[in-house]
Order: sequence, then structure tokens, then C-alpha cells
Amino acid sequence: IEREVKNKINSFYEVEREGYKYIGQNFLWERDKLTEIRYGNGTSKRKITLPEQSDYSLANSFNYQKIPLFYPQENLFHNSRINAKSEQKIYELFTPRNLYAIAILRDRIQKIHREDLKNLFLFAFTSAIGQASKMVFAIERRNKTKQKKKEVGSWVIGYWMPKNFFENNAWTCFETRVKKVIKAKREQNKIAKDYQKVTSFEDLQKGGDYLLVNQPSQIFLKGVGGNSIDYILTDPPHGNRIPYLELSMLWNSWLQKEVNYRDEIVVSEAKKRNKNVAQYNYLMAETLKECYRVLKPEKHISLMFNSLEDRTWISLLSSFDEIGFQLTKIETLKYSANSVVQDNRKNGLETDFIITYQKTAKNNFSKGKLEIVDLENEKEIIAIVEELKADQLKPFQIMNRVVTELLTRRKLIKITQLIKLIDNA
Ligand SMILES: C[S@@+](CC[C@H](N)C(=O)[O-])C[C@H]1O[C@@H](n2cnc3c(N)ncnc32)[C@H](O)[C@@H]1O
Repeated sequence: IEREVKNKINSFYEVEREGYKYIGQNFLWERDKLTEIRYGNGTSKRKITLPEQSDYSLANSFNYQKIPLFYPQENLFHNSRINAKSEQKIYELFTPRNLYAIAILRDRIQKIHREDLKNLFLFAFTSAIGQASKMVFAIERRNKTKQKKKEVGSWVIGYWMPKNFFENNAWTCFETRVKKVIKAKREQNKIAKDYQKVTSFEDLQKGGDYLLVNQPSQIFLKGVGGNSIDYILTDPPHGNRIPYLELSMLWNSWLQKEVNYRDEIVVSEAKKRNKNVAQYNYLMAETLKECYRVLKPEKHISLMFNSLEDRTWISLLSSFDEIGFQLTKIETLKYSANSVVQDNRKNGLETDFIITYQKTAKNNFSKGKLEIVDLENEKEIIAIVEELKADQLKPFQIMNRVVTELLTRRKLIKITQLIKLIDNA
């Protein structure tokens, strides 16, 4: 790849100063105008220069319509929560220059014969393109000498295109990612054994080590025999927290993947998608029913979950209950890294819950439907919360006790009410 396309791509970013040619790395655009260029000159520090006529001409010589290679034409789903507008096309997230550079890269990677290598490079490719898009905002910081200097930020989330952004050299973006992938592969090879990958559930039962399935769970599980699984650990989408497939369009469109939007379990504000809370609850319940069927008797399912939406909580816990599962444990899981993608609202979720249920022989369903109660009327529960809090129990431990206690009495409360009570107790 390097031999065949690096020079061509780098020529897109050429900066000529005093008779010498350099390769531009970061091009600052402010309100549609190129205002600053950073280039390498052999030292580790990048040189900063103001654009000259030749730089404007080079940048403006690219044109979406004149790119002779494949690039994605999809329109985004309209969703203001992720700054996506339906009239916006995926390719418009890139400058014409970077779009051409990325198209060259993709085209070359597609020609790799070995499937595993091709996939590895496509992986690096998809992870690089965000940083080569117009979504890389310019951070303004004052340094020690109080001079204003713009720093290259990174693409955060959603399809927000800031007025001031950095157009980064696409080859460098790609090369950086490839190096990271190679480093990760080396690390992984130190611990990885030669695990046997299989392509069907039957082969897994015959002793294969792992099966990777890229299919909606509610559909895949239908083809799995009953009482055949020892443990289920699942981390489903949490209501409307992240519209995965809408965000993944950036990558799926470049990979020319056909995407099954219909069966995604998610709540989305995109009107066109018809993914509301009721739909979400329905699909989650369908999936959990399948989970119950395929689990061996007395075995467990753990589900990572969080949402501050009462309807989602109530529906999820009721589904487990109605299907016949028995709640055995609530734990919390700290996020491994703080991410900008995280919910930062007040009362933001700092942890996810892991709720574990068991497929027991006795069926709860015969005991009747769960009753959703108002916590204010549950004097005994309020007293328990106050006592547990006085005993220095952590909020999730209190929650664990209270939810379990209530469920055994066939009762459920609004989770927001409980959190408030724990906070104030
Ligand atoms: C909370 S994320 C899981 C994140 C994962 N545990 C990780 O650490 O990277 C939820 C995932 O469920 C996927 N998903 C959505 N609908 C699904 C369905 N019907 N079947 C299986 N997975 C689905 C989403 O695409 C998303 O990747």
C-alpha cells in the first residue's frame, strides 16, 4: 500500500516554501477559508505557516464530482441528537481532497487478496477516517506565553461539523492507525492461543472454541436448540443512549455493508426509523424469551444495563419476570475509561448495573403480574433505605436489596424515585 499510494496521496498535501517541498499534515479551515498549515520538515516539531496562493490552488483543485473511484453516497438519517441532517451525505463529511485520498486507500486495500490481511487493513482504515473528516474540531488554548494556538482535537461523536476544523493528512491518519493495530496484534499474540473458530452453533457444541455471529440476537437464537447454553453475558443497547447503527453508517457506507436497520434494538429520535420505546421493549422481550429457552435449567444470564428512563427499567424487569426468570444479583460495573461519549448530565450514570437472573424450575408467571407501586406509599421500603444508608451501604447495594425485596413481593418501583430517595436519605 505504501509503495503504491503513499506518494500520490502525500502529493495532495504538498507545501512549497523557499524552493523546498514539504508534506502538509494539518490544514486549519475557519469558516470555509484555509487559514493555517502545519507541515513536517524533518524535525519532530511541526512548522506552522500561513497559506499562500499555491496552497489555496492545490486545496481548491479537488472536486467531489471528479473523483474517479468509489465513495459512499448515502444520506444520513435525520437525528438532531447526533447532529445528523437528512440532506447531508456521508461524503460531505470530508473535504474533496481528503475524500479522494481516502477513496484511493480504500481502493488499494480492496485489492489485497488475502482476506484476513484485507480485513485488518480495512479495520485500520475505518478507524482512521473519522480523524480525516471535517469533524475534527480546532481547540483553542492559550499557552504559557498567552498566545492563542489552535490544537488538533479529535472527532468526538455524532456528525457535528464545526465551523473551524482541521483537515488532516489522510495518509498520516491511516499510517498512525495501522501502527496501532500492529502493536495491538503483537500484544495479543503474546497471550493468544490457537483458538479454533467455527461457523455454526452445532460445530461449537462439537468442541469448537468460538463462533462469531453478526446477526440480530432475536433472530440468531431461534436457530439454537433449547437447554443448550451454560451462561449468557449480554450488553444490549441501553434505550436511546447511543444510536449505534446510525453512527456506524460512517464506516458501513465505506465498507459497502448492507445494514439491517430494521432489527436493531435501540431507541432513536430519527423519525424515519420508527424506533420508539415500545418497539425497543418489544424486541428486548423477544430476545429475552429466546435467551430463556436456550439456557440450560438452573443456569444464569447476566445483563449489563442502565437507563434513567423508568419505562425502560420497568419493562425490562417485568419482561424477565414474566418470562419466568428469578433475580439473583445486582452488581455495578465501573466504566473502564472515561469517555466523551458518556452521559454527562446531572445524575449522569457513572456505572452500569449487571443484573443476573436464573432460569429456575418454578415459574413466577403463575404468581400474577408485577404491580408498579409509588414509592411514597411504601413506608417500609423507605425505612429500609434509610437504615441501609445509615449502615454505609453503597447506593447500588441499597438498590440491589430494595429491588430484590420488592420483586419477591411482586412489586416494582420507578427507578428515578428510588435513586432520588437514596440520594436524599
Ligand atoms: C452497549 S453496546 C455493546 C458494547 C460492547 N459490550 C463493547 O464493549 O464494545 C450494544 C450493542 O448491541 C448491538 N445491537 C443492537 N441491536 C442488536 C440486536 N438486535 N442483536 C444483537 N446486537 C444488537 C449494537 O450494535 C451495539 O453494538
